[in-house]
Amino acid sequence: MTRFYATMQFFPIESGAVMIALAVFVGFVIMIFMLSPLISPRPMKLNGSHVLVTGGSSGIGKAVAVEAVKQGALVTIIARNEQRLLQAKKEIEQHMRDKDRQKVLCISVDISKDFSAVEKAVQQAQEKLGPVDMLVNCAGTSFASRFEDIPVDEFKQQMEVNYYGTIHATRAVISTMKYRRRGRIVLVSSQAGQIGLYGFTAYSASKFALRGFAEALQMEVKPYNIYLTITFPPDTDTPGFQTEQTFKPKETKLISETAGLYQPDYVAKRILQDAIQPG
Ligand SMILES: *[C@@H]1O[C@H](CO)[C@@H](O)[C@H](O)[C@H]1NC(C)=O
Repeated sequence: MTRFYATMQFFPIESGAVMIALAVFVGFVIMIFMLSPLISPRPMKLNGSHVLVTGGSSGIGKAVAVEAVKQGALVTIIARNEQRLLQAKKEIEQHMRDKDRQKVLCISVDISKDFSAVEKAVQQAQEKLGPVDMLVNCAGTSFASRFEDIPVDEFKQQMEVNYYGTIHATRAVISTMKYRRRGRIVLVSSQAGQIGLYGFTAYSASKFALRGFAEALQMEVKPYNIYLTITFPPDTDTPGFQTEQTFKPKETKLISETAGLYQPDYVAKRILQDAIQPG
């Protein structure tokens, strides 16, 4: 009798306790369900998506465009040189999976200087192929030389293309992505954007800047189901890399060669794979 009352005291309403436990459990399940997109987003299907690639007429950018088209995407490539753009467009189109449904659009614009020009280009692309689902910022330039041998203007040039170019393109797509609560943004840094390397005082600084930008922006746009990825590729066999070789100090070559020389299509595949399913 006494024990019975003691039990009653500790668990005043037995069915109530069960209800509370159940409510806590259901609440927990709902919380996990709501938080799961924050922990790991669902993979984005490229089939039918609009992928916009800056620097898409050569190197890693062109390889990304080819890979995206192979996976069924509609692709816009942006670069300065019209001739090279048209040539790249033809090459990319050969890899289309469904020629009736897919399209490759090319727009000639310099992304580094004038934001309104970039905005206009993106607008044009969105009118033709629909809202951009994925932006891949491949436009970039590099310059390797000893600090005192790099013209001061070259420091500005590196920042304008590698950093401001990425800012301009990202700014041009972000509002629509936030509105639609759908988007992936890829930033292409470099191994020299993870560690400062001999000869890369101008280049490394511009590529480091991208990381700070990416981390800050990711924090802002995560609630909008937008995910950024930043890639740090080693030397990749591209026209840009060949140009860079001209002024590159021997020390820089010896250091960077230890990581090997990668092929653009391999790098492109990894970039897209990570962007489709980040984390
Ligand atoms: C891609 O999308 C189209 C239409 O949106 C569909 O007909 C086709 O089956 C899809 N292909 C694949 C491989 O999912």
